[in-house]
Amino acid sequence: MKIVVLAGGLSPERNVSLSSGTMVCQALRDRGHQVALVDLFYGLEEGVSDGEALYHAPIPEAFKRVSREAPNLEQVRASRKGNSPSAIGPGVLELCAGADVVYLALHGACGEDGRIQAALDLLGVPYTGSGYLGSAIAMDKDLTKRLVSHLVVTPKWETVTVTPDNLEKLVRTTVRPVVVKPIASGSSIGVYIAHTEQELRAALAESMELGGRTVLEQYIQGREIQVAILNGKALPSIEIIPKKGFYDYENKYQPGAALEVCPAEIPAEWEKAVGDAALRVFQTLGLAVYARADFIVTEDGTPYFLEINTLPGMTPTSLVPQEAAVVGIDYGTLCETIIQASLEARKGGL
Ligand SMILES: Nc1ncnc2c1ncn2[C@@H]1O[C@H](COP(=O)(O)OP(=O)(O)O)[C@@H](O)[C@H]1O
Ligand SMILES: [Mg+2]
Repeated sequence: MKIVVLAGGLSPERNVSLSSGTMVCQALRDRGHQVALVDLFYGLEEGVSDGEALYHAPIPEAFKRVSREAPNLEQVRASRKGNSPSAIGPGVLELCAGADVVYLALHGACGEDGRIQAALDLLGVPYTGSGYLGSAIAMDKDLTKRLVSHLVVTPKWETVTVTPDNLEKLVRTTVRPVVVKPIASGSSIGVYIAHTEQELRAALAESMELGGRTVLEQYIQGREIQVAILNGKALPSIEIIPKKGFYDYENKYQPGAALEVCPAEIPAEWEKAVGDAALRVFQTLGLAVYARADFIVTEDGTPYFLEINTLPGMTPTSLVPQEAAVVGIDYGTLCETIIQASLEARKGGL
């Protein structure tokens, strides 16, 4: 098959995505596919008039060397030639139009939020993962919780728009400890567990910088369990045990910063409960192919649903590949399964 892997993009998670894209491209080439890997934002480099060349090009060193720190998006924006406001780089849509399928190795806003899915729908090219509507809903932590809060247990929450005018009032009136989350964040960017007034003020101020719409969520003490859905079934869950603090950006991407135990060492009833809850959310939101849901499970075994990711990481240390490996699905087979299931889903209109 001719496959275009889209990675990077204008998202705070672009570095993680480049790492996912590199892995996916290599694995699919190893399986004999023709694969072109391209950065959604930069597109075809100047002078590459022929996108076909990318199918044979080596993976750029810059993609592999990527540091795991969150990038400065202003710098990324400024470093592209020309002043186009487009989030899609030159030649990308043309390249996609010539492919049999587009593999979305993108994460976060601008990739996971439904807009690229909608563009590809209009272009008439199949792509991997959920459709545009489910993707958009799952990206919005408030909308997701509103749709599923009668079906699964989710921490109590309130959604606010932080402005310079109401920030101090929010600091005074919000019950702590509280988890502060920008409404459409990912990779824990902008997520803070605020215990003190100072921490709350700093978290709200950062949230304001990230757009203002913010979920203030009840802090749940418990074990962090995540579970993937693949082809309509839950994979074995994984427990995350950070050595320090919670599962923030650093603990997610610094190898060794968090212990990841898969399958999670939890009672069979807990495993069933998280799997069932993840599946219920997946179905309610109209998701397709695969996703990964995040939970905190309390001492009594109640799984508190936090969020669901429609394009979960596919880096060497990512969780979905680990969960798949436990049931004998290696990385290459996982990518292939995602492609086949996606082609079916697109035919079915999902
Ligand atoms: N209500 C909560 N109680 C306790 N910890 C939480 C809560 N919400 C989030 N966290 C912690 O913050 C991390 C990131 O939150 P999450 O909602 O998954 O957002 P993101 O999209 O950034 O991954 C979680 O993996 C967990 O470690
Ligand atoms: Mg998460």
